[in-house]
Amino acid sequence: MRHQAIAIIGGSGFIGSHLVNALVEMGKDVRIATRRRYNARHLTLLPIDVIEADVFDPVQLARFVEGADCVINLVATLHGKRGTPYGADFARIHVELPTRIVAACEGKGVHRLLHVSALGADSHGPSMYSRSKGDGEKAVHAANLAWTIFRPSVVFGPEDQLLNKFAFLQRMFPVIPLAMPDAKFQPVYVGDVAKAIVNVLDLDAAGGRTYELGGPTVYALEDLVEYCGTVIGKHARIIRLPESLARLQALTFEMAPGEPVISRDNLDSMKVDNVLSGPLAPELGIEPASIETIAPIYLTGASTRSRFDAFRATAGR
Ligand SMILES: NC(=O)c1ccc[n+]([C@@H]2O[C@H](COP(=O)([O-])OP(=O)(O)OC[C@H]3O[C@@H](n4cnc5c(N)ncnc54)[C@H](OP(=O)(O)O)[C@@H]3O)[C@@H](O)[C@H]2O)c1
Repeated sequence: MRHQAIAIIGGSGFIGSHLVNALVEMGKDVRIATRRRYNARHLTLLPIDVIEADVFDPVQLARFVEGADCVINLVATLHGKRGTPYGADFARIHVELPTRIVAACEGKGVHRLLHVSALGADSHGPSMYSRSKGDGEKAVHAANLAWTIFRPSVVFGPEDQLLNKFAFLQRMFPVIPLAMPDAKFQPVYVGDVAKAIVNVLDLDAAGGRTYELGGPTVYALEDLVEYCGTVIGKHARIIRLPESLARLQALTFEMAPGEPVISRDNLDSMKVDNVLSGPLAPELGIEPASIETIAPIYLTGASTRSRFDAFRATAGR
């Protein structure tokens, strides 16, 4: 079935922005909800509707999804106040919101829901993040809708918070005390995540399916940091922190103002390897790009034109 009118919640973010671009290129009618129009300012040149809304308000949410053929949810947080089983912030954003989105879709006759979760989502997982993501998926499973869930490993791309951070830290500091250096990840390119989502948007067989998304290579965290150092030509000395010191470091970050660089909950998430359980599903239609082909383009600050040329080449355009 063809879905033309797409309503996206969380469309101004990292993955959302790439997805919005991909949908616009396909000629879809796209609207995004944002808490503040300013947060979506980088999308203003696109032919989309940017709607300021409080998506936790059932009336505003219902109005936002009304008339859409498909709703896509990309809202998430990496940090929240601690609590059992996962504290109020994770509960609100990862569980309550998907529950409300399902209710709004059912109430307004929207039949398709795409929900971006995360690899490792598990109601019995080791972290508040993984447990709340797992319960959010359960809310989607219970929906009387053609839902599809995506579970990416960590995502890399020009605006990522991962490789850019490792490069920044090595530009700034000669030494990096690294928590969980052996934690495993299978980073996936943001363009491939967007492509996978659009490829199954209209696929009836994708209803009721959960798709893991990962790149071609599994890396240990320490290898990723070293790789970023190699790309920018500036290696910091990595000090592998034992768990007790890693937790102390995370607690210190949590007590400082602003978002912590890393939290104790992030450490808990990394206790489970963030790698795919099997090969990518063929219907996703992606041959995932490697970090080595993409990351040097943005980590080294190549010119904007050559960056876009390279991204177009990998996107096949
Ligand atoms: N990036 C990764 O490496 C990665 C890895 C695995 C899974 N994922 C999953 O992929 C999805 C998208 O991730 P992302 O990296 O693109 O996230 P992001 O850049 O942080 O964007 C999240 C979006 O959610 C909205 N949002 C955040 N808090 C909100 C709140 N309290 N109420 C309403 N809206 C809120 C924001 O929209 P406004 O500011 O416009 O309101 C923002 O555009 C998430 O489900 C995430 O868990 C990401």
